[in-house]
Order: sequence, then structure tokens, then C-alpha cells
Amino acid sequence: MARRSLLLSAGSYLPKEILTNADLAKRVDTTDDWISQRTGIKQRHIAAPGELTSDLAVHAAEQALHHAGLRGADIDMLILATTTPDHTFPATATKVQQRIGMKGGFAMDVQAVCSGFVFGLATADNFIRAGQAHRALVIGAETFSRILDWKDRNTCVLFGDGAGAVVLEAGEGDGTSKDRGVLCTHLFSDGTYYDKLYVDGGPSTTQTAGFVHMEGKEVFRHAVVNLAAAVDAAIASAGIKADDVDWLVPHQANRRIIDSMGNKLKLAPEKVVVTIDRHANTSAASIPLALAEAVNDGRIQRGQLVLMEAMGGGFTWGSALIRY
Ligand code: ACO
Repeated sequence: MARRSLLLSAGSYLPKEILTNADLAKRVDTTDDWISQRTGIKQRHIAAPGELTSDLAVHAAEQALHHAGLRGADIDMLILATTTPDHTFPATATKVQQRIGMKGGFAMDVQAVCSGFVFGLATADNFIRAGQAHRALVIGAETFSRILDWKDRNTCVLFGDGAGAVVLEAGEGDGTSKDRGVLCTHLFSDGTYYDKLYVDGGPSTTQTAGFVHMEGKEVFRHAVVNLAAAVDAAIASAGIKADDVDWLVPHQANRRIIDSMGNKLKLAPEKVVVTIDRHANTSAASIPLALAEAVNDGRIQRGQLVLMEAMGGGFTWGSALIRY
């Protein structure tokens, strides 16, 4: 027998305001064609003034809890993956904990930028399998619009705001790849590339939040190689074949990166969950947003094998394989 983290449900939330490529073309020197062709993005959601990362996270968490038939009080571990916390401290996770009515257990933030959800999921899975937690909420939530320089066309066209959440619960399996639940996670980082994708502020350096800077081509080059390695690690460690994968739910940074991973797995295009056209890159929120969409519209069915992969600043990257 093996202890497993079962994926009970998923939820998501997107702020109401939509900013299209055409809207952006009025602010910076860009075009809908450039953004669509290079990235696959058509629009993004933007949090309203005063709408915080914690607000987005609470909406997504409540929807996930509702779909699982649970309440906040039923959760004993809450992990919030975010790069855009409400404050430098306390962890935004603790605010979310209070607002969903979670009385015991613990809540903490995880920071791995766009890989944050995979890092959070791996953390929760390890706590559950170690017997130190029973039911976990893993949330990815971002107000990335707050750390963008809206005059920099290299970055401001790429990102959006949103949140997604999943509920995990301890269960039993046989210890094989036929089990339901999280089958494996693989995390990586390499600080050699710290300055390829970063924010030029922080409490210890400038006492400001700063703005995003990215060497796009360099990040792209590493993303394709690193994500392929993370996917290979998942497949090898679970002892499955690439064509056993039913769904790819990738981080949504660039349509060309998403397509290259789908092609690598020889997955039919309709088996790759794509939201980048509507959500843009929502960093730690992108995978749970995509997952929630495909679970809640019935595309992803119980028993199917779902592969997730992400890469972000640091660099950080990783994968998670789950049988839903
Ligand atoms: N509109 C019009 N032109 C633009 C824009 C824009 N919004 N942005 C840049 N350009 C111009 C550049 O100035 C450049 O012009 P030049 O040739 O005259 O100098 C030209 O377009 C090409 O720019 P590149 O940066 O070379 O374009 P590229 O094809 O590499 O696409 C992109 C850029 C979309 C950023 C791509 O490199 C990419 O997606 N990189 C990976 C992003 C990623 O995976 N991020 C990971 C996670 S993000 C996180 O962790 C926060």
C-alpha cells in the first residue's frame, strides 16, 4: 500500500476587467499581430484597483472547496504560490486561511514564480505522503499587473492576473502508476540564471516592489530544454510511456513553448489544455486556472493521467503527474 494525495477538485477566479491586445496597442508601441504571432496571447484579465492577490485566491479556493463538498475548516494545510503577495509579510496564505474559515493546521506562501504551483503541489504531496497533513488546498494566485512596467512592451504584453486552486486529500493506492492521485513530482532550480528573469526591486535591495525584466530569447531557449527534461523525469519515474498521458496542462507562457511540449509527447492538440489566448501568463496561477477549466467543463475525466510542467524565474522548473 502507498499513501497518495488524491486530487478532489479544482476552482478558479479571473478578475472582471479584460485588456485586449488592441487596448494595449493604444498604450505601447505594439500590435495585436505581433503579440498573437509571438505568444498566442489575445487578451488578459486585470485585477480592479484594491482587488488583491488574497481576494483572487479566496474566490478560487472557495470554488474548489465547493466542488469538493468541503469547508475551510476541513483543510489542515494551505499553500499559496505567489510572486505578488499582498504584503512582504505575513504570508498572504495566512490571510486566505482566515478568510476561508480554516481554523487549524498551517498556511504558508511558496515563491517559485511561474513554477510556483508545481512547487506548491509537490510540497503538499510530500506533507500528505509523510502523514503530516490530511487535506490540503494548493492555490496559485497572482496580481502580476502590479509588477509590470506598463511602458515596457517587452514585458507588459505577456502577463495577466488570476487564481486557481485544488483540494488534495490523503488516500491509499497500490504504489503503481495505476493509482489515483499525485504519482510523482520533480522540482529543479539553477540560480546561475537569477538575472535572466527578475524584478528590479525588493525589501532588502530597494525597499520597493520593482518591475519585471526578462531576457525573452534566453528564457525561451532554456524553457524548451528544461521543460522537456522535467517531462522526461516524470515519465521515467512513473514507469509510463509518453502516449499514456491523457492531458498536458502546461504553464501558459508562450504558445510556441506549449506546442513544442505537446509535439514532444505526440499528443493530439485537443489533449493540450490551452488558456494563454484568454488569460496570458498568470505566473503561478496559470496551471491551476487551466486545470480547473478542463476539470470543471468535463474534459478531464476521473482515472485519466494529467501531466503538468512549468518554468519560471530563478530559473525554477518542474513537473507533476497526477491521475485524476
Ligand atoms: N510589440 C512589438 N514588438 C516587440 C514587442 C511588442 N510587444 N516586444 C518586443 N518587440 C520587438 C523587440 O524590440 C525586437 O525588436 P528588434 O529586433 O528591433 O530589437 C523584436 O520584437 C524581437 O524581440 P524578441 O525578444 O527577440 O522576440 P521573441 O521572438 O524572442 O519573443 C517573447 C519574445 C515572446 C518574450 C519570447 O522570447 C518568450 O516567450 N520568451 C519566454 C517567456 C517565458 O517562457 N517565460 C517563462 C516564465 S515567465 C516568469 O517566470 C515570470
